[in-house]
Amino acid sequence: MPQLSQKGQDMPQSPIRKLVPYAEAAEARGIQIHQLNIGQPDIKTPKHALDAVKNADIEVLSYSHSAGFLSYREKLAAYYGKQGIEITANDIIVSTGGSEALLFAMGTITDLGDEIIIPEPFYANYNGFATASGVTVKPVISSFESGFALPPISEFEKQITPKTKAIVICNPGNPTGYLYSKEELDQLSELVKKHDLFLIADEVYREFAYDGLQHNSVLNQREIDQHTIMIDSVSKRFSMCGARIGCLVSRNKAFMATAMKFAQARLSPPTLAQIASEAALDTPQSYFDEVISEYVDRRDTLVAGLEAIPGVRVAKPKGAFYCIAELPVKNSDDFAQWLLESFEHNKKTVMVAPAAGFYSTPGEGLNQVRIAYVLKKEDLIEAVALLKEALSLYKD
Ligand SMILES: Cc1ncc(COP(=O)(O)O)c(C=O)c1O
Repeated sequence: MPQLSQKGQDMPQSPIRKLVPYAEAAEARGIQIHQLNIGQPDIKTPKHALDAVKNADIEVLSYSHSAGFLSYREKLAAYYGKQGIEITANDIIVSTGGSEALLFAMGTITDLGDEIIIPEPFYANYNGFATASGVTVKPVISSFESGFALPPISEFEKQITPKTKAIVICNPGNPTGYLYSKEELDQLSELVKKHDLFLIADEVYREFAYDGLQHNSVLNQREIDQHTIMIDSVSKRFSMCGARIGCLVSRNKAFMATAMKFAQARLSPPTLAQIASEAALDTPQSYFDEVISEYVDRRDTLVAGLEAIPGVRVAKPKGAFYCIAELPVKNSDDFAQWLLESFEHNKKTVMVAPAAGFYSTPGEGLNQVRIAYVLKKEDLIEAVALLKEALSLYKD
């Protein structure tokens, strides 16, 4: 057989999806699984977004502009304006999910062997996008004790080399739920200015900020306009993960012109999904108010339930819909597999994401799991009870 690429062999498996075969086997045995492992919200997609596609009078399902429909980008710019972010349609390239925006960003700013610095734990697919781009991730550990606040700037500086191109942050964070403060963004701004680096901010969870806290966009750090790249997506905002629409936003014209060449190479983002995404922008604030209050309720239920289990600690999330929990186990990979292979209570079990896959430093996060609170409150309560029962039986 012809040889496959080293890059392909180096591509990490998704820590979120690698347990799927064990889950399928459990389901085949008739076990019901509460899926706390993936960020697929159960919230309904706004009806008017789906109706826009149903009602679209289309004779030819054509490509769109490579940057996305102008009408959509203009409406997006207006949406950002309402969020207090001044942006024009020309600062936006619509992508096939936030995922493609991340790939475009890395392709545009890095060469083979370059490095990016990311506070860990981080969204595991950053590893995959970095590997695909031939880029090395240099992690800076953020601590469980601080709730995963920004690590000291001196720790970032220790990782900076002539090959460093960018710092990547996720705000609010997946998997941490941490929401960066304005002061933390100011510190990062100073750092990227001093070392002339890009700052990529993944803000796909922007609306999901709790406890009256305000989300601060990197695009409002106006003194670093030439450094900032923002990644966005409709997936979580409108519960439209299957639309596969995101965008890349930057005021750096040279960056955008180069990113456009990547966008042109893949021709265009999906046409029907752009129609849905454009309509989704008409979603009233009341939708978000309801969704946020639902997530806050779920978060509080989950955190209180987990903290009541002996030996379990939780870093309370301030945003997004994930939390990192420390469990009284040596290896959460083994525990997560055991939950699916060997545990059941009344024919039910839970699926969690082992957190080691969200770190790139070997040995970090071994006793942690990421839990997504994307299930209804009753299911979360049952899932926590199952976890408690499982932990009382599990032997390392
Ligand atoms: C932090 C973060 N960034 C980006 C993405 C990619 O989302 P999508 O490609 O669906 O827009 C996700 C999806 O879960 C995510 O959690």
